[in-house]
Amino acid sequence: MSAELIQPIAWRPDFTTGVGIIDDQHRVLIKMLNEASTRLTDQSSLEELAKIVQGLINYADYHFKTEERFIVEQGYERLRPVDAEAHLAQHRDFVSKVLAVREQIHQGQRVPKDVLVSFLSEWLTHHILHTDKALGAFLLDQKQRAAQ
Ligand SMILES: [Fe+2]
Repeated sequence: MSAELIQPIAWRPDFTTGVGIIDDQHRVLIKMLNEASTRLTDQSSLEELAKIVQGLINYADYHFKTEERFIVEQGYERLRPVDAEAHLAQHRDFVSKVLAVREQIHQGQRVPKDVLVSFLSEWLTHHILHTDKALGAFLLDQKQRAAQ
């Protein structure tokens, strides 16, 4: 198998938050990341690199807005303010890091594929397992309480 075909990140059962829309969007993000890893090489043009990074920024933004709607509308912010703030801070930190990568590319600097892909994979894995799952558990708990 050539190195380009190795998937940097694969869906794992323990990624499941139990909230369908969040899990579906995480699957899309993982798919996009794997596609980016397959398409990119260290010889890819800056335009190609910029296009892939912009695609990830756009989808991450859409996805974070979905989660942030749950955070505000389902009482996470009110009932778990510390966790909610930490969650939002992680989203902001991710956005600022990826925007910095975009700026670097716009200035004509190449970002090594491995650096980009491993940053994205590690961030996503850690964020899903430690932060989104906590949100998911809260949302499921709220739903259960509402049904009682
Ligand atoms: Fe999140």
